[in-house]
Amino acid sequence: MRLGPLSPLTGAHEAFDPRAAIQSECAIAAVSPPAAPDRIHENHSTQFPLSLLALLVDTPFDTENLPPLFDKTGQNAFHIPADIAKFGHDIQEERPGSPDSQTVELDRQYLDTVFVQGREYQKYAIDHRIYFGPIDDEEAERLDAEQQVFQRIFDNRLVFPPIRRLRRVLDCGHGAASWAIEVANRHPDCDVIGVDIAPHMSPDDVPDNLWLQVDDLNRSFTFPSNHFDLVHSRLLATGIHRTRWPSYIRDIVRVLKPGGWVQMVEVYHMVQSDNGAITDQHALRRWSRQYMRALDDRKDLRIGSKLKTSLLEAGLEEVDSNMIPLPLSAWSTDRRMRAIGQCNSDNIQQLLRSLALYPLTQRLHMSPENFESLVQQAQEEARDPSLKAYFPL
Ligand SMILES: C[S@@+](CC[C@H](N)C(=O)[O-])C[C@H]1O[C@@H](n2cnc3c(N)ncnc32)[C@H](O)[C@@H]1O
Repeated sequence: MRLGPLSPLTGAHEAFDPRAAIQSECAIAAVSPPAAPDRIHENHSTQFPLSLLALLVDTPFDTENLPPLFDKTGQNAFHIPADIAKFGHDIQEERPGSPDSQTVELDRQYLDTVFVQGREYQKYAIDHRIYFGPIDDEEAERLDAEQQVFQRIFDNRLVFPPIRRLRRVLDCGHGAASWAIEVANRHPDCDVIGVDIAPHMSPDDVPDNLWLQVDDLNRSFTFPSNHFDLVHSRLLATGIHRTRWPSYIRDIVRVLKPGGWVQMVEVYHMVQSDNGAITDQHALRRWSRQYMRALDDRKDLRIGSKLKTSLLEAGLEEVDSNMIPLPLSAWSTDRRMRAIGQCNSDNIQQLLRSLALYPLTQRLHMSPENFESLVQQAQEEARDPSLKAYFPL
């Protein structure tokens, strides 16, 4: 057994010391014991929400080989489910070196959008209750900014596991492709494939070694077995159906090469306070509860706390996890954490509206006025340093 780079979680009720928490973040690559916040506010459980996992697979897999289908749209390759695929051009005509050779024309249904209170959503994802976040330029810019927050909190590391040479990487739910582009740029010899249900946030200009495809990750993967050195899955709790998680993880395991790794990051959206100042009456806590309730029938927003067990159950050998407090603004007395909070503040101001708009107004039928009022109060509280608010990551 080889050790992964992330520190395991230990006891859930240690006193929280922000300086120790910072050490635990730095320890992502150093396998030192983590510090953890003392209070994780949750209805039914005192269990820690997950954070972030990486693991090593040492077992051989079956060699089932199902070639994916592709479409050519501009510079990107889009992968769509075979049952609705219409055959089109071979992507290799335009993108020599593409890791796959078959292409299909992207079905129109993936491109249609709907507007809700000024924000744009993919109609297919909404109609099929796959994903309820916006896919417009505003959201793409927010995800790019959020990537910068992650880079700070992860000490500028994109890949946590100790992989000597990356040859093929899969990014699940690539969004604006911020992570995938950085990986492709830093590893020019590596083929990076991103999959997302929505092509809308994909940039026009991507590195030659990055291919962005369209597919629903709730369906079985069509990638060949033993294919990737690393599978990256970040912020997918709102997109993977709650019943799909076990088979999603099995699919990831199947497509990993022996010795390959999966790296997962989820945010637990139940807001926490480092000094216990946030109560159920606060708008931030009301925002959290309603956001989670709005998606509860389809999505498991507590999946982060279960991933370690799920990955072990799926037969993965080295599973490590860590919880990192992601400050909602610059409240920390520690310089590094204050800078991270500062960097995250604008992102959070936008996130409070963009994540919750559709779920609260369309799924919980909250009036636009009540929604605006809740978001504005929550935004004020997020900026209030005395509340010391954070999301567990
Ligand atoms: C919150 S964004 C995260 C984007 C990116 N992983 C990051 O960390 O910046 C979630 C992304 O996952 C995509 N997504 C959600 N559910 C999906 C699914 N079932 N299949 C494919 N993509 C999905 C969404 O379209 C969106 O682009």
